[in-house]
Amino acid sequence: MSKSISDTASSITETFIQRTTESGAWDARAKRSMPGGDTRAASYYTPHPAYMARGEGCFLYDRDENAYIDFLNNYTSLIHGHAHPATVSAIQEQAVRGTVLGSAAEATVEHAEMLCARVPSFESVRYCNSGTEATLLAMRAARAYTGKDLIVKMDGGYHGSHDYVQVNIQSQTAEDGLPRRTLSSRGVPEAVLEGMLVAPFNDLDALQDLLRANSGKVAGIILEPALGAGGVEPEAGYLAGVRQLADSHDALLIFDEIMTFRQDLGGFQAAAGVTPDLTSIAKFIGGGLPLAAFGGRGEIMAPFDPTHPQTIPHNGTFNGNNITMAAGLATMKEFGAEQVVRINELGQRLRNGLNSAFQSAGVRVRAVGSGSIIRLHWHDGTARTASDAAAAQEKAQELPKLLHLEMMNRGIFSAPRCQFAISTPMSENEVDAAVDAMAQSLDTVRPYVESHVPHLAHG
Ligand SMILES: Cc1ncc(COP(=O)(O)O)c(C=O)c1O
Repeated sequence: MSKSISDTASSITETFIQRTTESGAWDARAKRSMPGGDTRAASYYTPHPAYMARGEGCFLYDRDENAYIDFLNNYTSLIHGHAHPATVSAIQEQAVRGTVLGSAAEATVEHAEMLCARVPSFESVRYCNSGTEATLLAMRAARAYTGKDLIVKMDGGYHGSHDYVQVNIQSQTAEDGLPRRTLSSRGVPEAVLEGMLVAPFNDLDALQDLLRANSGKVAGIILEPALGAGGVEPEAGYLAGVRQLADSHDALLIFDEIMTFRQDLGGFQAAAGVTPDLTSIAKFIGGGLPLAAFGGRGEIMAPFDPTHPQTIPHNGTFNGNNITMAAGLATMKEFGAEQVVRINELGQRLRNGLNSAFQSAGVRVRAVGSGSIIRLHWHDGTARTASDAAAAQEKAQELPKLLHLEMMNRGIFSAPRCQFAISTPMSENEVDAAVDAMAQSLDTVRPYVESHVPHLAHG
């Protein structure tokens, strides 16, 4: 039995290594100058990541000329796939006039006008270069506005890599109804825990208890409207309930829509009909260049005005740089209501197709998520919280990794945790190709499922 386990895993890995020898050579070279040969943990995977040489529309080609349909889309940040003509022209036109002129830029104003027109919570916005900065600054704005220090985040919630949000990224088991507050990385000061509280997602009672126990001290509640970790969707009424609890405790509600913004023209908040006080967005708004924004009610954002008597200084050498804003504006102009509907429909087609493939293969895995983002639950029940999703993933052992690698062997590129994002150049053909590849991959991993994770095999 154990022979078939190692046979399955090693034959998938061996096929990948054989197909990607150039990438393997680059990985060996990279390891000499970078720890692990890597500079971004989320896109690293063993035996080595494929080195992509170029992207065209929804296709990627690696150094060995293997073609992939790109369902990673740089973790949802490429709404039009690669090298969309409008974005390329905007970049080219700006490049010859200078990439960053160190001054205010018209494209920034137009981009901000578009965001304020689209996103219900945006009366006023500011730009930065990463989602990490956008959540850091939204949290700072909440503290400044309320004059209070504590921020509540969700167990399993991800808000980037600044110190204050390195708490319970990996979900923790509950003690007395609340997840144990835990630092998620070495090197983060213990003092961070004094500034953060942690609630389980989809649990209004626990949030209420936490807010009552810290009455008068909570500046804000930050959450992804749908948890990225494990693809946990909000239950009916949950987001509205959080809104009410925030109001009744004089805390600001901050939505981290860095990933979910693509779900509707005005973000998840527009679709859910719940308007937060502050919102952070990033990913595709820069047209494939690094860009993020945070914004909200005018009175909360007002102190970011450099002439405000109690200004909150907000700097960044590349904030609102010309080339990124030009690329972002061109990209946003090509993303309207019609495109949102189309990619969300393709997302649903992929979820349905994958679920049929899992069912036909007798594997208890479920495609979940919403709109154009598709995630896998490593069981066929429902995950209410991040800890449900994490427990299921842990029990699935190597299956996510093997499926990811086998899908790559079959020309489908996704996040190593098997997250898929649709881009506008895709059609039903690419979605159906991913479903076929999954059906075949499930066939390949069957011996592993049966012998190693039999709880995921239908009896
Ligand atoms: C929900 C969420 N918040 C914050 C971030 C951090 O953004 P960045 O990687 O641009 O710093 C991410 C990145 O994936 C994210 O998904």
